[in-house]
Amino acid sequence: MNQRLRELARLIFNLIQNIEVFFLRLFGIIDFPVPPNSNMRRTSAKTIKHYIYSGITTYLPIATLAQYLGVNFDEKIKALDFGCGGAGQLRMFTKHFPATHFYACDVDPSSIDFIKRCYPQVNSCVSNFKPPLPFESNQFDLIYSVSTFSHFDAETIDIWLLEFSRILKVNGILLLTIEGEFAIKVVADETAESPELIKLELEKSGIFYKNYDWLGTLQKRGRALTKSVDISTYFGSAYGNTVLGRKFIDEKFNNHGLKVMGVSEGIICERQDLIALKKLA
Ligand SMILES: C[S@@+](CC[C@H](N)C(=O)[O-])C[C@H]1O[C@@H](n2cnc3c(N)ncnc32)[C@H](O)[C@@H]1O
Repeated sequence: MNQRLRELARLIFNLIQNIEVFFLRLFGIIDFPVPPNSNMRRTSAKTIKHYIYSGITTYLPIATLAQYLGVNFDEKIKALDFGCGGAGQLRMFTKHFPATHFYACDVDPSSIDFIKRCYPQVNSCVSNFKPPLPFESNQFDLIYSVSTFSHFDAETIDIWLLEFSRILKVNGILLLTIEGEFAIKVVADETAESPELIKLELEKSGIFYKNYDWLGTLQKRGRALTKSVDISTYFGSAYGNTVLGRKFIDEKFNNHGLKVMGVSEGIICERQDLIALKKLA
């Protein structure tokens, strides 16, 4: 379908969902802000029900693991949601941990517009695709990120680990979701590659990365109809599907003063792994 028609369709979906949200709120069925449908779709949630479900099922293991690793949300700690999207996780974190000072960043300006409007207590900003982030060094007790490292190539992974290490406090915790061996079959389906090829890449180089082929085409076309339906201009040229092998994690994540504390396989949305890291002294 023509790109402009797709953008028009996204605007129509936004309008329909706005009407749905209006009535859901009116009848007291929901009591929280819902991002525009086009923002939700960028986090792969097509419906409000899926937005709620994926938010809760990603928030829960992250919040549980963070507390297990010593993060105390009842104190005035600082936590950063990197690649916050439409607040899928932030919605839950801000509701359950009002004492924590939350920060959020995303390359997508329309997501940050939503956060600023609906979560004014969160310190949010539009960030660049590559570091640095506009934060001073050694200040965060916790950084978490859902579904960003599942799209980065090896170089982008490395520069972000270095940047997270810079802004984390000593003993600060970093929780990242990634696609690992657990997700090979589903990534193979989505990328139209064979699971064997992905396994081979993991054995060879520790990482399977395939660029989104639509991204370059869209970026060449330039601006979208509106900021709300722009899905390409803020990404760098390398953005796609990434699968990481255990060897890659052990070698590349135990780096820049970070130490891998553990990997919980398949715990996120029945496909992603959750990696826990700590910044060493
Ligand atoms: C798949 S979505 C996940 C959003 C949210 N974490 C969630 O789970 O609902 C990935 C998000 O990361 C953002 N993102 C991708 N690359 C980024 C980068 N280099 N810096 C900041 N945000 C980024 C995207 O704009 C998008 O909102």
